[in-house]
Amino acid sequence: MCGIVGYIGYEQAAPILLQGLEKLEYRGYDSAGVCLFNGKELQVEKAKGKLEVLKNLTNNGEDLSGTVGIGHTRWATHGEPSDVNAHPHLSESGRFAVVHNGIIENYNQLKEYLISKGITFRSKTDTEVIAQLIEYYYKDNLIDTIIKVLSKLNGSYAIGVISQENPDEIIAVRKESPLIVGLGEHENYIASDVPAILAKTRKIYRLENNEIAILTRENVRIINTDKEEVKKEVQTVNWDVSAAEKGGYEHFMFKEIMEQPKAIHDTITPRIKDGRVVLDEISITDEQLKNFNKIEIIACGSAYHVGVVAKYVFEKILRKPVEVDLASEFRYRDPIVDDKTLAVVISQSGETADTREAMKEAQRHGAHVISIVNVVGSSIASESDDVIYTWAGPEIAVATTKAYSTQLAVIYLMAIYFGDKLGNISEEDYKMYVSELEQLPDKITKILEHKENIQYLASKHFNSRDVFFIGRNIDYALSLEGSLKLKEISYIHSEAYAAGELKHGTISLIENGTLVIALATHEKLIEKIVSNIEEVQARGADVVCLACENHQEIKNVSQNTIFIPQACDMVLPSLAVIPLQLFAYYVASLKGCDIDKPRNLAKSVTVE
Ligand code: F6R
Repeated sequence: MCGIVGYIGYEQAAPILLQGLEKLEYRGYDSAGVCLFNGKELQVEKAKGKLEVLKNLTNNGEDLSGTVGIGHTRWATHGEPSDVNAHPHLSESGRFAVVHNGIIENYNQLKEYLISKGITFRSKTDTEVIAQLIEYYYKDNLIDTIIKVLSKLNGSYAIGVISQENPDEIIAVRKESPLIVGLGEHENYIASDVPAILAKTRKIYRLENNEIAILTRENVRIINTDKEEVKKEVQTVNWDVSAAEKGGYEHFMFKEIMEQPKAIHDTITPRIKDGRVVLDEISITDEQLKNFNKIEIIACGSAYHVGVVAKYVFEKILRKPVEVDLASEFRYRDPIVDDKTLAVVISQSGETADTREAMKEAQRHGAHVISIVNVVGSSIASESDDVIYTWAGPEIAVATTKAYSTQLAVIYLMAIYFGDKLGNISEEDYKMYVSELEQLPDKITKILEHKENIQYLASKHFNSRDVFFIGRNIDYALSLEGSLKLKEISYIHSEAYAAGELKHGTISLIENGTLVIALATHEKLIEKIVSNIEEVQARGADVVCLACENHQEIKNVSQNTIFIPQACDMVLPSLAVIPLQLFAYYVASLKGCDIDKPRNLAKSVTVE
């Protein structure tokens, strides 16, 4: 997620902007920049890489004059991380500068229009269209112009604007992406988040959607898009700095769990147009798709677990054989892969060494590689044949949550898109799948609203020594992730088992008080899993069952049941994983573990 700061006052702006950006580093970024009005014109300095690079370039901001400016840390979405794609972006003549956090979904259309009017673009970003549109529509009133530009934008945004035309003003506006205004004495600020301004002021306005803030040195006015004044309450922030960075949550993992409805929404919405799934990122022809005789999925850890879900989804909908491989195994097993293989490589970081090498191995054998990656411009994203980005934003906690969920969302999009092209989906099913996908964010929000139920179950079981996660079919795929989440952050030994396999060995480990988490969301196999629940209970297990709310009868067999909203089979893992993530989180929290940085683990595994 990008970070925005803005300052208008009587002090030199650049050092203040850089200090503010430093406090937003936790959001993750790949480049940074500032723009100041230096008394004559707008001056921009920006650089790829750490903030340190920009600081060295500007002598900690001391070399830049001006008492009004905006700054930005960029997390690349459109266009790779580079100096040119870093913000702020200027309009063609350099009179208007913009910083932006969010995604402009219709930027391509707007860009094409502006290009047809003779305007030249410098960057590959969606943001530059905002700066260019402002200049294109500007006559003599900046507010009117910005309101007009907003009416042209689809998507989410927090925007800060300064201009040569009105150099004693910062204009800020938001829709869906966060933005606050900080109120000082003879100076005012804008920021994506509180930490950026906490050293300067604790008095803030939180902007709501479509509110426009007009900041001068002495005053802040808030209006709506009809130019009516909006009366807002000044809030006083009493958090300490580290709490502020986590948005008030105790851990990044919890914050990221809570962000999942938005992350999924951001990943699917730009790819559903007029009820149809559109994956412009994919270059394979319909003929090529038909000719693939195998899909090979390659990944590590949780991303591999997404692959296991994908096997069930793809085989059901695409009717092509699917193999899922751990990247570290695939590389060394002389895999049967050729140019009739479609390889799907999944990675949050895009830098995992084994995944990257396995991808190259698949490419050497002639496979076409589609990667599903969260970090724009990462090695796997750049080296694959096609890349579908997950728009989860930066994930800070080591244990993945929102990246996993957005990877699943991409799998569903691919299943619908390819299934349709292969002629495997009826029109009725197509509509049903798209609608189920679109309902996911709201259904996940509902589950999150009842998180206290999971907290209660965690308080009953956080002392467990061994935990077994069991499930059948797609529930088995999910049990792998539930088990990994629990063991990696709470250090409790846990195993995932295909429920039908229990009788072939593992059931001997079940004794009085062993916790078994039974996943029973898969409609067709509910009776089978009920039998497995009865078998482990008969041997003394404590069972927590996870089922859909239309199966209340499960309460007759399980002592504790977590219910999730009903949904079609394909998308159920996206709902069922939420209680499992929360359970792991609460157990680890009750045990006092270092949740965001579990021992021995790293976020990005760049060694083999
Ligand atoms: C578990 C987790 C890891 C990663 C794995 C792959 O919570 O985060 O298992 O899924 O290390 O990492 P990426 O997706 O970056 O390739």
